[in-house]
Amino acid sequence: MTATSPQVIESKVPIKSYSSCVGGRTRVKDIIGVQDQGESWIGQTVTVCGWVKTARNQKGDDGLMMFVEISDGSMLQGIQAVVFENCVGYSKAQSQLGTGASVKIVAEIVRSPAAKQVVELAVRADNSTHKIEVLGSVNSSEYPLAKKQHSREFLREIAHLRPRSNLIGAVARVRSSLAACVHDFFQHRGFLYVHTPIITAADCEGAGEMFQVSTIMAKAEKEGKSLVVDPKTGKFDYESDFFAKPSFLTVSGQLSVENYACALSDVYTFGPTFRAENSHTSRHLAEFWMIEPEIAFADIHDDMNCIEDFLKFSVQWALDKNMDDLQFFDERVEKGLINRLRAVLDGPFAKVSYTEAIEILIRDMKDKKVKFENTKVFWGMDLDSEHERYITEKVFNKPTFVYNYPKEIKAFYMRLNEDGKTVAATDCLAPGIGEVVGGSQREERLDILDARITESGLNVEDYGFYRDLRKYGSVPHAGFGVGFERLIMYITGVENIRDVIPFPRFPGHAEF
Ligand code: 4AD
Ligand code: MG
Repeated sequence: MTATSPQVIESKVPIKSYSSCVGGRTRVKDIIGVQDQGESWIGQTVTVCGWVKTARNQKGDDGLMMFVEISDGSMLQGIQAVVFENCVGYSKAQSQLGTGASVKIVAEIVRSPAAKQVVELAVRADNSTHKIEVLGSVNSSEYPLAKKQHSREFLREIAHLRPRSNLIGAVARVRSSLAACVHDFFQHRGFLYVHTPIITAADCEGAGEMFQVSTIMAKAEKEGKSLVVDPKTGKFDYESDFFAKPSFLTVSGQLSVENYACALSDVYTFGPTFRAENSHTSRHLAEFWMIEPEIAFADIHDDMNCIEDFLKFSVQWALDKNMDDLQFFDERVEKGLINRLRAVLDGPFAKVSYTEAIEILIRDMKDKKVKFENTKVFWGMDLDSEHERYITEKVFNKPTFVYNYPKEIKAFYMRLNEDGKTVAATDCLAPGIGEVVGGSQREERLDILDARITESGLNVEDYGFYRDLRKYGSVPHAGFGVGFERLIMYITGVENIRDVIPFPRFPGHAEF
């Protein structure tokens, strides 16, 4: 494959601050998140805006002082401001500044006497340009976030305020960075970004776990009618529904993106997907984001190579661009995280066929090396998460591909292997999480595809657009889906998927 580099554009549009309403501002990251931690800023006057993490009074030689730590979310650390008695805005700040209040500070950057930072802000009384301005005060007795560490459960209850916590702020920065990483990886390899539809009539995974999109319920309610089922068919009259047929939120953009791959060759989609599975686990959401590349003229081995490269690239990206936040995760969430991530880059991922994996599980159970809750391990079963985790954590202790699964437990579109029993599917499992990526070579032979659709209990007529690709210039092609939240969990060490997406959706919960 020849890589294509996007052209570097020399922009005539300057990079500037869009905060003119506060007279312009400088981000905390641009002051202290740089190589010299702010040293070269000493002596300059800046405007910093943000939210107060802590505020305390202290009596010094020059009278009263307030120490205020301000965060603007641009980096993990906040910047400290020393606010001297009688400076502009001092008395209002005294009465209104508490944790959570928003503030604008105009001050000089000075060397800090404290060891934990190189510079701090000095808001002086003898300089009339200096000031502290309370933009929005808080009722401290009501504000739910204190300086202390809150439990994850509590933070989920205040999901609208939790981005102000260190943990969720760090996750948000890594998430944003990894989204850019996805585009960087694929764009530099000549893949085109395709926006596949969110609303669809096709069930990609054939699992029937879809949310319906319909206006008939709301319409009936508005018109004061009850929903009418056709007595002959026992079904709703979808003719009068918005799309004139049953329609759903997509579980995957794959089928649509395949159409583009079979015209533009290398493509990817990256967007939200929805699954109405009744899962309450720490790894499942009802709404999650998926990265789905599709490679034309490729087989299952090309697929696995691309998955491995993408995962390693993402790990490298986070190490290069998000070290501050990773250090925080290493300290607070998973000890040794950074070493674990570095080790991922060191060697190749493990590869094991499904058949070999089953043999290993049976052998190790017999040798009493492991005890599973589900002891019924046999060829043809869908691996439980405890089995997957044993393989990747204990047997190989690194990301592991399991490939060539029994056709009965996989989706209809996966390519049937020569043995007639297995399909060219692969799951990439990661220690601590289990399945992070699911992919396959696609069935490009029309007759076999039709048989598989029927075998899976689906209707061939519903897949006309998909079958056409096999009628008109069919080519071998392969693709995969990366659960974006699972990737973030893997890179941050955060154990619960509900903490790596801003507003998690799961059964019984669509708050905020
Ligand atoms: O294995 P899945 O179901 O594969 C597909 O949807 C294919 N159409 C992808 C493709 O080949 N283009 O899902 C892919 C990945 C999983 O490996 C997992 O990481 C994630 O999506 N995933 C979920 N993440 C969060 N919550 C859920 N309910 C998820 N279901 C799948
Ligand atoms: Mg899967």
